[in-house]
Order: sequence, then structure tokens, then C-alpha cells
Amino acid sequence: MNDMRLLERAVDTQVNKITARKVQVYYGQNHALKDVDVDILDKTVTAFIGPSGCGKSTFLRCLNRMNDTIAVCRVEGRIDLEGEDIYDPRVDPVQLRAKVGMVFQKPNPFPKSIYDNVAYGPKIHGLARKKADLDEIVESSLRKAALWNEVKDRLDAPGTGLSGGQQQRLCIARAIATSPEVLLMDEPCSALDPIATAQVEELIDELRSQFSVVIVTHSMQQAARVSQRTAFFHLGSLVEYGETGQIFTNPKDPRTESYITGRIG
Ligand SMILES: Nc1ncnc2c1ncn2[C@@H]1O[C@H](COP(=O)(O)OP(=O)(O)OP(=O)(O)O)[C@@H](O)[C@H]1O
Ligand SMILES: [Mg+2]
Repeated sequence: MNDMRLLERAVDTQVNKITARKVQVYYGQNHALKDVDVDILDKTVTAFIGPSGCGKSTFLRCLNRMNDTIAVCRVEGRIDLEGEDIYDPRVDPVQLRAKVGMVFQKPNPFPKSIYDNVAYGPKIHGLARKKADLDEIVESSLRKAALWNEVKDRLDAPGTGLSGGQQQRLCIARAIATSPEVLLMDEPCSALDPIATAQVEELIDELRSQFSVVIVTHSMQQAARVSQRTAFFHLGSLVEYGETGQIFTNPKDPRTESYITGRIG
């Protein structure tokens, strides 16, 4: 294949998964997120970086309507998932969250067995008709989350009895068990040691072949390692968004430069 055709193919794969336009978030009187426009690409890892309190988690939660659960929170603007407005009143947030899964900073397995943690989503969404189908989903999700070999002989043991890094991979298995299209991860490695962090980062890279992944991280090294696109937030605004290499080597905005060189934040 000639270079031009290869280039076309690379450009072809840059499909928008999520489109956000003029997103505003208010917590009561606090205007926490201002005018955020962003296109999240499919089959790409997008990193959200920026100082504490700049709105990274707030924006992440807009993408699967987790902010709906916060009484004082109001979201304005438009967010589309494959062209469909996720804030349309006809959209069921529970169904949406099966398509746009989330992994939190602190591993939070349910007080259930390892098996049931992973089987829970597929069960409530009716994704398996027979026990054998469910077994298959549980195994493949645990395999994708690089946890299967460590737990296959104790699927009935409580999820909370695993190590922190294993619990986080269990939560990732739980999130991918419903075959989401987008996986949101809010500082998924902040409670993990370097070995577990490396495993989760490797996993994120593998998941990219199937999903769109958005990761919030305070580690610039992690953002540079795992992501292809980076968005820098500052004081509630999305200051700069672009190809990760460009953001880290040649930022356009002086605020981005100050942050990545350690002068703010
Ligand atoms: N549940 C909430 N109720 C009220 N205000 C909130 C809530 N969550 C966040 N905020 C406010 O919204 C702003 C953005 O917070 P957010 O948690 O999104 O920041 P962040 O970039 O994720 O920070 P960190 O890096 O510390 O996690 C802050 O001013 C914060 O106080
Ligand atoms: Mg946060």
C-alpha cells in the first residue's frame, strides 16, 4: 500500500464518538465548567489533565450523566454520542451508562463475589439468556481486564477480598462486561502501586482497539504514555485540546505550557 493510502486509512479511523458543544456545568451558583467544546474520537485514548478543581471529573461525569445524581448540579449545552443527544428526555441514563461505562479513582467492587461483580451489568441489561452465556461474558471480561488467571479458581470469593490493583481490574472487567462503547476512567491508577499501574496502562492500550477511552490523570507521564489526544483544563475552561505529542512538546497556550512544565497546579 502506498503512503497516501495508508494516510487516508489513518484519517478514516478518526471517527467522532462524542461531540460536546458549549457545555456549562453549575453547582448551585458555582459555574464550574464553561463553554466546553470537544470531539472525543473513537478507538482513541483521550487524557484530561489540569490542576485540581479545574473541572476534569465534572466534565467526565457529564459524558454518562453521572452528574444527574448530584442534586445541585445543572448541565447545559449539548453532548452527542454518535449523533444522539444524551440529554434527550427519552434517553434512559441507566442504559446510557451501560454504553458509557465508568471506572472511579478508588476501586469500588460490590459486596458480592468476583463472578457476580462482573455478571451484574449483563444480568440487569439482559445481555445473557443462559448461564453459559453469562459465564462466557464473565470470563472474556476478566480476560480483557488481565485478571482471569489470578481469579479463575476463586470466582465465588468476595471481590472486596482482592488486592487494590486486582480490585481496580475487577472494576474495569465490570465496566467492560456490558460491552460499552466508551470507557471513562477517573484517575484509575491513583490508588495503585507501579506494577498494578503498569498493568492497567497496558490494559488501557489494549482496550483502545475496541472502545473510546477517556482517562483523567494527574500524571503527565501517564497521559503521555497512554493517550493519543490530550485536553488541558484550567479554571473550568478547556484551554487546549490536541494530539498528545503536540500538547506535551509544543503547546500553543502559555497556560498549558506552564502546567506541563510544573509552573501551575
Ligand atoms: N458534588 C459537588 N458539589 C458541589 N461542587 C462540586 C461538586 N463536585 C465538584 N464541585 C466543584 O466543581 C469544581 C470542579 O471540580 P472537579 O471535581 O470537577 O475538579 P477536578 O478537576 O476533577 O479536580 P481533582 O483533580 O482535584 O479531582 C470545583 O470548584 C468543585 O468544588
Ligand atoms: Mg477529579
